[in-house]
Amino acid sequence: MSQSNESDKIRHLRELKARSKLGGGEKRIEDQHKKGKLTARERLEVLLDRKSFEEIDALVEHRSHDFGLEKQKVLADGVITGTGTIDGRLVFVFSQDFTVFGGSLSETHAEKICKIMDMALKVGAPVIGLNDSGGARIQEGVVSLGGYADIFLRNTLASGVIPQISAVMGPCAGGAVYSPAITDFTFMVKNTSYMFVTGPNVVKTVTHEDVSFEDLGGALTHATKSGIAHFACENEVECLQLIRKLFSYIPSNNLDDPPIIQSKDDPHRKEEKLNSIIPENPNKPYDMKDVIHLVVDDGEFLEVHELFAQNLIVGFARLGGGPVGVIANQPAVLAGVLDIDSSVKGARFVRFCDAFNIPLIVFEDVPGFLPGTDQEWRGIIKHGAKLLYAFCEATVPKITVITRKAYGGAYDVMNSKHIRGDFNFAWPTAEIAVMGPKGAVEIIFKKGIEQAEDREKALEVKVEDYRKKFASPYIAAARGYVDDVIEPRETRPRLVRALQILSTKVDGNPKKKHGNIPL
Ligand code: HXC
Repeated sequence: MSQSNESDKIRHLRELKARSKLGGGEKRIEDQHKKGKLTARERLEVLLDRKSFEEIDALVEHRSHDFGLEKQKVLADGVITGTGTIDGRLVFVFSQDFTVFGGSLSETHAEKICKIMDMALKVGAPVIGLNDSGGARIQEGVVSLGGYADIFLRNTLASGVIPQISAVMGPCAGGAVYSPAITDFTFMVKNTSYMFVTGPNVVKTVTHEDVSFEDLGGALTHATKSGIAHFACENEVECLQLIRKLFSYIPSNNLDDPPIIQSKDDPHRKEEKLNSIIPENPNKPYDMKDVIHLVVDDGEFLEVHELFAQNLIVGFARLGGGPVGVIANQPAVLAGVLDIDSSVKGARFVRFCDAFNIPLIVFEDVPGFLPGTDQEWRGIIKHGAKLLYAFCEATVPKITVITRKAYGGAYDVMNSKHIRGDFNFAWPTAEIAVMGPKGAVEIIFKKGIEQAEDREKALEVKVEDYRKKFASPYIAAARGYVDDVIEPRETRPRLVRALQILSTKVDGNPKKKHGNIPL
């Protein structure tokens, strides 16, 4: 081969690559920026370690011959795929390019996504998908629908094997929403992203409701109302950086341990403030997030689902360097009661942590399940059972700290000793009983109170008696249902020590195809 021939070929390759990089062209890139959005490639630059992105399939073209598409071929076909690293750890990525046919999903576009998903599963590395797409490539019809199904299948098969993260950074409509829905975490960006099964126009026709894109399926809607979005970010850069942060807590696959990052925070640190954090009056709220911040390494807590079902807090932190999943009742919201949304939120988080070897730390202050027709008719029984089921089946290290109330069924559910809690600690302020003192006394002394001359006084006396006898951790401690009653200030060192002890824990469940979680 002559020198000039060789350089021609190299020049040709370079031209192709440059053309591929340009996607839908300068004008559409400008339009993308005008909408306050980054391009598919710019997003990958923010997401991944500098210069770590290695693209594959940059030269893929669609195969459609309908509606004049054969004359409109754009290299890479609307999705950029490949590998990169986050803090040096391998990750597979796809990033839909809205400048090419609106990021719509063609046969080849889907094949590219499936290719990296298959590879990620084989090598045991997470997949991060950046979604910005007008949905099925309309010109390709059913071929495109098939492409979606190919992705859904892989999302499902990879679930619990490698972590899957979705960011929705533009439109995501119709059946396309089911890929992010199956993945472990969904990020959205306020004002520029939306997800819905049917858009505002169809809604108007079918239900006569007038609703905007943002109200129907924007980031805040899904972060607060539906719980579809785990994170609602102010802008794309914040979103991509938050994905990097989340990544620091999770392992690459279900056989790996999550990454340990040693901190300068003393594992033996006793936190005096905790000894006075519970109010004298048991009905007064306090912020459980203060407890979490005071206990974990450097006070750093990455809350998941921060705006959804705020009566239960879930998120990631570190204790002695190792990641933990925190599940905590929040007495400052609805008195920390468990309802449908919080049960489902907690169950999914517990199952993620269990699938990916992340120990569970429970802070418990729960007066029970929320009463009422709304909750009963919408199925609090089966939804509450999800949280119970998730804790029961989890085999990672499981530690509970009862800070105050542990009443009724909620006591059992919140990782009690009986469902394989490994270490169950209680603070001296704990009240572990079938129900709160007033409710209990009104039932068991109903007649006596009704017949008393001064009913209020009689009730007060009985409530006080009950409180003294039952509203404490000591009956549970006497039976070994809690392993120790500890001073609140000792919580951090006790948790760190317990996690060290449990670091070689082995436990399992009976062999089966899969369980039948009450869905
Ligand atoms: C082919 C598409 C497309 C699509 C957009 N484009 N969506 N091409 N198939 N689904 C193209 C446009 O023709 C246009 O091309 C470019 O992308 C940008 O689109 P605009 O409409 O100019 O952008 P914008 O005004 O920002 O509106 C974005 C949009 C709108 C709201 C997403 O494009 C839209 O409504 N698209 C159709 C959405 C849809 O109905 N999809 C099918 C859903 S059903 P040019 O050349 O002008 O730049 C579905 C089923 C999945 O997805 C089922 C899975 C099981």
